[in-house]
Amino acid sequence: MALSKSGSRVALVTGGIGGIGTEICLQLAQVGRTVIAVDLATRSDRIEAFRERTAACNGAIRFEPCDVGDFKACGDLITHVERNIGQVDILVNAAGITRDTSLRKMDPQQWHELIRVNLDGVFNTCRHVVDGMVTRQFGRIVNLSSVNGQTGQFGQTNYSAAKAGVHGFSMALARETARKGVTVNTVSPGYCDTPMVAAVPQEIREQIISDIPVGRLGTPGDIARAVVFLTADEADYITGANLPVNGGYFMSF
Ligand code: CAA
Repeated sequence: MALSKSGSRVALVTGGIGGIGTEICLQLAQVGRTVIAVDLATRSDRIEAFRERTAACNGAIRFEPCDVGDFKACGDLITHVERNIGQVDILVNAAGITRDTSLRKMDPQQWHELIRVNLDGVFNTCRHVVDGMVTRQFGRIVNLSSVNGQTGQFGQTNYSAAKAGVHGFSMALARETARKGVTVNTVSPGYCDTPMVAAVPQEIREQIISDIPVGRLGTPGDIARAVVFLTADEADYITGANLPVNGGYFMSF
């Protein structure tokens, strides 16, 4: 079994200092993982807040800067982690951005910036961890998709395309690794209480909340619980699946 120097499985979480990512890091640490939170080095205010929130974890969570849109930087990061901390057994791709605007107004930059982080980022990290996972015959990959990848959302042709793409990617990779002890799944959050959703104009946000059967926004903790479940050693028969966590906002079979 590939373990960190402290004897626990290493989990790498992209977007690790973000609204949902921070909670994923905390919950993974609570179940004994050694957690590497990956995010942009430029977000110094968020890094500080993250350090304060995770201080009680006694070093089980550490921050590593990396731009997930940069293929080489992802490779360098994973080499560094595997040399100094331990083999990456769990990968959670939670890095994501929005560039909301209707297609009629969307410029190529808003398209490419979003695809670079939300979709290329998933390729860049998975590509660098998958060989090691297959060789060791163990891996858990969870990629965050979105309810808006399932339904489409006004003003989100870029985001909806990327998030639908994330699930397609995950199903394909799940097939490639199914006999090698590596599972690949998506979690599709609905609208959660995060800075990303807070940026949606208030009127639209209130309309969305009134359409959620459970009657509230999701919490980052709601999403993190699904990630912990799918990354358990015992979750070895769940692969290529999508786990929606949306308060009933979109129900499907
Ligand atoms: N549905 C239908 N029509 C809409 C609409 C909607 N949701 N929003 C705007 N329109 C209409 C407008 O009334 C306007 O109509 P007219 O041309 O007849 O006047 C037309 O569409 C164009 O509107 P705008 O000029 O306002 O459009 P825009 O290009 O500026 O985009 C927007 C508006 C920024 C997309 C805004 O609608 C918006 O912020 N929507 C919310 C998007 C959203 O939900 N994002 C989710 C972010 S959180 C997230 O992504 C996390 C997750 O995974 C869930």
